[in-house]
Amino acid sequence: MNIPPINLKAQFKGVKKDILKGIRQILEEQKLILGQYCQELEEQVSATTGAAHTISCANGTDALILSLMALGIGPGDEVVTTPYTFFSTASSISLVGGRPVFADIQESDMNIDPSKLEKAITAKTKAILVVHLFGKICDMKKIMAIAGKHGIPVVEDMAQALGARRGGAGAGTFGDIAATSFYPTKNLGGIGEGGMVLTRRSDLGDRVRKLRVHGMGDKPYIHEMIGLNSRLDEIKALALCVKLKKLASWNKTRLETAGYYNMHLRDLPLVLPIIEDETSHIFHHYVVRTVRRDALQLHLREKGIMTGIYYPLPLHLQPCFSYLGLKEGDLPIAEEAARTSLAIPVFPELRKSEKDYIISGIRSFFEKADEDIENNQ
Ligand SMILES: Cc1ncc(COP(=O)(O)O)c(C=O)c1O
Repeated sequence: MNIPPINLKAQFKGVKKDILKGIRQILEEQKLILGQYCQELEEQVSATTGAAHTISCANGTDALILSLMALGIGPGDEVVTTPYTFFSTASSISLVGGRPVFADIQESDMNIDPSKLEKAITAKTKAILVVHLFGKICDMKKIMAIAGKHGIPVVEDMAQALGARRGGAGAGTFGDIAATSFYPTKNLGGIGEGGMVLTRRSDLGDRVRKLRVHGMGDKPYIHEMIGLNSRLDEIKALALCVKLKKLASWNKTRLETAGYYNMHLRDLPLVLPIIEDETSHIFHHYVVRTVRRDALQLHLREKGIMTGIYYPLPLHLQPCFSYLGLKEGDLPIAEEAARTSLAIPVFPELRKSEKDYIISGIRSFFEKADEDIENNQ
């Protein structure tokens, strides 16, 4: 069997007809950028998440940059964030002139540890940027309490958690502003790059709407601020609208697969993801942890099962962030996660036979290890 980490061709089969029909219509009408489908997508994401204002943009990294720009983050400002995430969570802070300050993650779910976050706050802290890693919503109750106490705005990087809910509230509605990505491999992945900013604050929503188009307001060619060109194409928005209708069922299937894996792997010497409830984790990635990660990955690859490592090097140890002066040992939980984490395929189109094959592939690795120990005794 050959099992890829994600199967976009299989996903496309289920949406092909509607996407091709819509593309044809867009091409006939030639309204190509920020038109009816961008608007429809924004409305649908508002309905899905509960966010009052949604602004589509070119990609998730831009969504983060636009969020930080709207909050006025600039040179000299510190933003506390997690070191265990995709690169652009932190690069966006540097790109607007700010300084990322990394607070270590918690063991349980690899999301930022609220107590460490609070210790990292200084007089220069102008925002907190949390990431709902792998699709699991952070402990927003504690995080919002800390932010409130210090009067600091919160940005949610929800690029991996669209559709997740905690305590009835959707990812992207806890903080002041949120950024998501529609990169093709995301839970809601487009047919190219794409992103969106979500916010409950109309002042921030208005700013992002202008910042997305060169800082222009209602008057053409009058620039109120220095913004980006970060518009979304209609063709991409249309494809996302079609796929969004399936997001809830895709997320549900991911959760069921995660539960199935947990049930069949729980006796192995593996750290499995915790499923606290039915909604707060949408399993963008299903990540197990073992000190024998590299050997397990190799074993699975030999069986045709492709896995992923998210992420092999925490951000505080990335060459480009050496100017921050951090070294190995400074954020030990993130470093340990980078050494031990392995993402097992969890995409919604996985067949039962493939899930069973993955489970038996993982089990055979540990059974073989037991046999080797016995033979050496
Ligand atoms: C946690 C996180 N933040 C930000 C991004 C950036 O999104 P994009 O690739 O659309 O720029 C991604 C995805 O790649 C991500 O996983």
